[in-house]
Amino acid sequence: MPIEKNELRRVMGHFPTGVTVITTFSKTGELHGLTANAFSSVSLVPPLVLVCVDKKAESYPCFEASRCFTVNFLADDQEELSRRFAVSGGNKFEGVGYRLGANQVPILNGVLAYIECKLVGGYEGGDHTIYVGEIEQAETREAKPLVFYRGGYRNLSD
Ligand SMILES: Cc1cc2nc3c(=O)[nH]c(=O)nc-3n(C[C@H](O)[C@H](O)[C@H](O)COP(=O)(O)O)c2cc1C
Repeated sequence: MPIEKNELRRVMGHFPTGVTVITTFSKTGELHGLTANAFSSVSLVPPLVLVCVDKKAESYPCFEASRCFTVNFLADDQEELSRRFAVSGGNKFEGVGYRLGANQVPILNGVLAYIECKLVGGYEGGDHTIYVGEIEQAETREAKPLVFYRGGYRNLSD
């Protein structure tokens, strides 16, 4: 029997992750973003990453439309941003500091790191699509990460 959805969520919650906001834009140029922790490095040569996006997310069609996205790694003082981008609807960018990258995708202020990607693949992943991006530009700064573990936000203690 397949594992029940809430039980799967509970079990997966035992794997600590960082928290990202994936930003992109729609075919009409409207900015979009969603909180995501289903993110991973894929390949060094070529430099590839992946993010799994729910097919029901409002930002879902933007990935094919813009063919680019930026992965923003949240810092430990950005929990409020994570909560904001985890709720659908409205203009999530209102009152949020950001600048547009070379690809016209928002880079959020104060993030630990960002990775600008061009979309190079989309693969079936059940109710999600696995989007693979090739890294075009990336930058880091000195800060601590926001961590998600067992359904709650955590900070690294060291
Ligand atoms: C910690 C955390 C991690 C999440 N990870 C993902 C994820 O990896 N992929 C995803 O599609 N949604 C994920 N979500 C849910 C989306 O952020 C949420 O569905 C959001 O409302 C989608 O925004 P949109 O509808 O404007 O695109 C996560 C939410 C939280 C709080």
